[in-house]
Amino acid sequence: MARVPFYRLKNGLEIRRILNGMWQVSGSHGPINPNKASREMFKYFDAGLTSFDMADIYGPAEDIFGDFLEHLKAERGEESAGKVQALTKWVPQPGPVTREITKGRVRLAMKRMGVDKLDMLQFHWWDYSDNRYLDALTYLNELQVEGLIGEIALTNFDTQHLMEILKRGISISTNQVQYSIIDRRPEVKMVELCQAHGIKLLAYGTLGGGLISDRYLNQKEPVRRSDLQTASLAKYKHMIDAWGSWELFQELLSNLSDVAQAHNCTIANVACRYILDKPEVAGIIIGCRFGVAGAEHIEENLKLLDLELTPEDIQKIEQTLSKGNDLFETTGDCGDEYR
Ligand SMILES: NC(=O)c1ccc[n+]([C@@H]2O[C@H](COP(=O)([O-])OP(=O)(O)OC[C@H]3O[C@@H](n4cnc5c(N)ncnc54)[C@H](OP(=O)(O)O)[C@@H]3O)[C@@H](O)[C@H]2O)c1
Repeated sequence: MARVPFYRLKNGLEIRRILNGMWQVSGSHGPINPNKASREMFKYFDAGLTSFDMADIYGPAEDIFGDFLEHLKAERGEESAGKVQALTKWVPQPGPVTREITKGRVRLAMKRMGVDKLDMLQFHWWDYSDNRYLDALTYLNELQVEGLIGEIALTNFDTQHLMEILKRGISISTNQVQYSIIDRRPEVKMVELCQAHGIKLLAYGTLGGGLISDRYLNQKEPVRRSDLQTASLAKYKHMIDAWGSWELFQELLSNLSDVAQAHNCTIANVACRYILDKPEVAGIIIGCRFGVAGAEHIEENLKLLDLELTPEDIQKIEQTLSKGNDLFETTGDCGDEYR
């Protein structure tokens, strides 16, 4: 099996370049059995997929991780915990942010996850007209100095507000944003600012919730709610609609399939590799429905590590991309779809 490479972030945390996304255990992607889910995380760990991405708002995700870590230590020894990278997010509801609230949130995440320090805390903010996000990040910075947080990171921040944060002198390791073959908005402004400040991107949506895969090649357009059973499928179907028609999407899948066949791999592999090769992308986060439909994808997804796309492959893919709408124009910069 291919070895999953690490990427070393600013403050020293080494994350895998393919990360396991845990939004899929939140409940909005179908029912989850927490015990079954935490058992299945062992399969990912054993495959070298040791980085997990969570959030306070992903239902039981942090607790499921805590349960996994406890069993890992019990069954494989205390030192095995050091081989896991646990990334979480703080997504506060609009309202006051104090030092106490911030510290309380960090301590709660540590308790749920069963760790004595957060490897990474990714911060989200809903409303830019309320500039207390700058206070929250200042407090997080203090907690980092205290040793409670390894990397301070963001999710879904746009370029303008990332710049405001940097002007405050706060060091940011990564910004987690939607970045896929369909949604290349980070390339318009974000990447340049990241390059200038040594900030890396963590990409989600690389598989469009599963739509960008062989499963949907030559398939009729999924339009009914029952066709789009997970929150992820519904979210990215909207994105495809904003980008172009289902016919154009089929043209893209067909091109991706030609490239995949030439390399003896799959559409999912090509779509992921295309983003993983982008400058400033430290890692791609692939959603895992632990205990439901997750582990079956491990072997296939690891094949993307052996894939080398040629300039001709890229050209073939980009021929179709250029026919789609400019999502930066229609939707805005990174994360604007949440505001
Ligand atoms: N910061 C944010 O606002 C934000 C937003 C969205 C996501 N995220 C993060 O990113 C993670 C990824 O989630 P996502 O919603 O963007 O989903 P995604 O990774 O684009 O898609 C995940 C789904 O793709 C399918 N899949 C996986 N490997 C496949 C393969 N080789 N072939 C075909 N299908 C495959 C699986 O579907 P089945 O389970 O049906 O097999 C899986 O549930 C989340 O868990 C979360 O950690 C963050």
